[in-house]
Amino acid sequence: MNAVRPHKPATVMVVDDQAQNVKILETLLHAEGYATIAARNGKEALALAAKGNPDLILLDVMMPDMDGFEAVARLKADPRTKQVPVIMVTALDDRKSKLRALEAGAEEFLSKPIDHADLSVRVRNLLRLKEYGDFLAKHNQILEEQVRERTAQIEEAYRDTVFTLVRASEHKDEQTGHHLRRISHYCKVMAEAMDLPVDVQSAIYHASPMHDIGKIGIPDHVLLKPGSFTPEEWIIMRSHCIQGASILASGTSPYTRMGTEIALNHHERWDGSGYPNGIKGDAIPLAARIMQICDVYDALRSPRPYKLSIDHARAVAIITQGDGRTRPEHFDPAVLACFVARNEQFAAIYDRHVDD
Ligand SMILES: [Fe+2]
Repeated sequence: MNAVRPHKPATVMVVDDQAQNVKILETLLHAEGYATIAARNGKEALALAAKGNPDLILLDVMMPDMDGFEAVARLKADPRTKQVPVIMVTALDDRKSKLRALEAGAEEFLSKPIDHADLSVRVRNLLRLKEYGDFLAKHNQILEEQVRERTAQIEEAYRDTVFTLVRASEHKDEQTGHHLRRISHYCKVMAEAMDLPVDVQSAIYHASPMHDIGKIGIPDHVLLKPGSFTPEEWIIMRSHCIQGASILASGTSPYTRMGTEIALNHHERWDGSGYPNGIKGDAIPLAARIMQICDVYDALRSPRPYKLSIDHARAVAIITQGDGRTRPEHFDPAVLACFVARNEQFAAIYDRHVDD
């Protein structure tokens, strides 16, 4: 950090319309051990600075086409060059010009004729400043990468915990870890298709596997009953929505909050014929409307002790045209349209995470 030029010489860009002035400055800079590049006016300077990656710019004020004031303002407005320190060099020695140069973004001001010692000190100081700036920028970049990595690890740990807990609640049920993974992926595809914000896409991805966590409260003689339910057993079975929501309601993370909404409402239907509350339309949270279609698709595709697997085309036909139990009116039309648009991704997810 202490050495100004630890690896290769710093590059100073000299900008002046007078070739002689360029030569004088370059000679002085070479004597100090710096590399140089040169431009003859403001326009050339902008183009060269953007691709030449100079560490410092010595910029003449009085130039044709684009003067130094405009050039420095543009250099400081361009994200590619705004970190490069600029020393304005001019014969003008009045206070007004100096202020104008500093206001435009220049870091330093040198008057002609150039004093060698003055140039040497200012160049060295500004290069050191630039080096610190570069170091900090790089350090920040490394920190940001580390934060991203840690966040991903925490998310993965969270997901792993959710899966473990949910599987504990479902190990006695016919549903599997593959089902939970598929649900996550279907829901994410739907959230993307519906253009939901990225944080909502992430929340539904993590929250959706918790939809049936309330089944942990359903007695085995009901949950595992091979035949059809009596009306009383149906009431018990349907209570998994409310039980799931009450388990998750104490959570404070965005995932458990969304998980609560999904657990409570994933069997509600757009036309109001669902349960537990028979709410309809927009009254059903969007995440639950998405979860509902994903759950229906996966249930249709999955083999059960009492039914065979249904192929993708048939499952899509049942969802879009209806059969004895499922009707298109059950689904939010916007959600249904997205499902139709993305149905091939559903097939791919099912095939990728198929049960053993
Ligand atoms: Fe359910």
